[in-house]
Amino acid sequence: MSSSFASDNRWQQIWEKRGLTPDQAAQKALTLDTLIALDGFDSGAGKISPVDWQEYARRISDKLQLHAGDSVFEVGCGAGAFLYALTQHQPLAVGGLDYAAGLIAAAQQAMPAGDFHAQSADDLAVEPHYDVVIANSVFHYFSPEQAAKVLQLMWQKASRAIAVLDVPHADTQAACERMRRDALSEAEYEEKYRGLHHTYYTPAWFAAQLSAVNHDAFESCVPNYAQSQYRFSILFHKPQHG
Ligand SMILES: C[S@@+](CC[C@H](N)C(=O)[O-])C[C@H]1O[C@@H](n2cnc3c(N)ncnc32)[C@H](O)[C@@H]1O
Repeated sequence: MSSSFASDNRWQQIWEKRGLTPDQAAQKALTLDTLIALDGFDSGAGKISPVDWQEYARRISDKLQLHAGDSVFEVGCGAGAFLYALTQHQPLAVGGLDYAAGLIAAAQQAMPAGDFHAQSADDLAVEPHYDVVIANSVFHYFSPEQAAKVLQLMWQKASRAIAVLDVPHADTQAACERMRRDALSEAEYEEKYRGLHHTYYTPAWFAAQLSAVNHDAFESCVPNYAQSQYRFSILFHKPQHG
């Protein structure tokens, strides 16, 4: 695994600036497009269209064998774009946390029955349990030590499975950073990424953290996503009895 993670977390300052505009806050219903944009998938190499986002959520929902009435908690849920798309397929009980209070307010507005908390992933409460605990496009903001801790907490919180999705693959770090730079103008790149770093992982690192557990690692399955080839996802399933 490779990381040049800055100890003073500038990413946190950036995410904490995000939130609904007064006009959006006054609207009762929020659209998936708004949530996707708030969660940062609206520009450069990270851009994902709502149609592709819904297909991505459907694929992950199938892999996790989610059914109506299941409960899903997301670590680093942001404005809840991923959870929201999952609930568009079938009714789910949802919850999530994110350190950006403005994004959590958006998630709560989009999914009023959900249980959302503005807090750091390190403080993830193991209870209440949820059937499935996920983290989409979040682990690269963690230091390796933090990632190891959050993964264990996710595992303890889940009754059935955990999913860590859209994780930058260490084997592709150089190519990925070159592509991200090419997707933006020099000025945009400097503006967006100055002093900001991502942590890159391997599936083997995750497997080693939960060594006795069955896992399924696969390439990112977001359609038409420029970063797909540099990302992987990994699911861990608990043995089910009876
Ligand atoms: C790219 S967005 C993804 C949001 C959401 N998971 C989704 O798929 O739409 C990354 C999110 O991770 C959150 N995040 C990063 N580090 C975090 C931490 N240590 N604790 C809580 N949230 C964190 C950011 O605030 C941001 O909302």
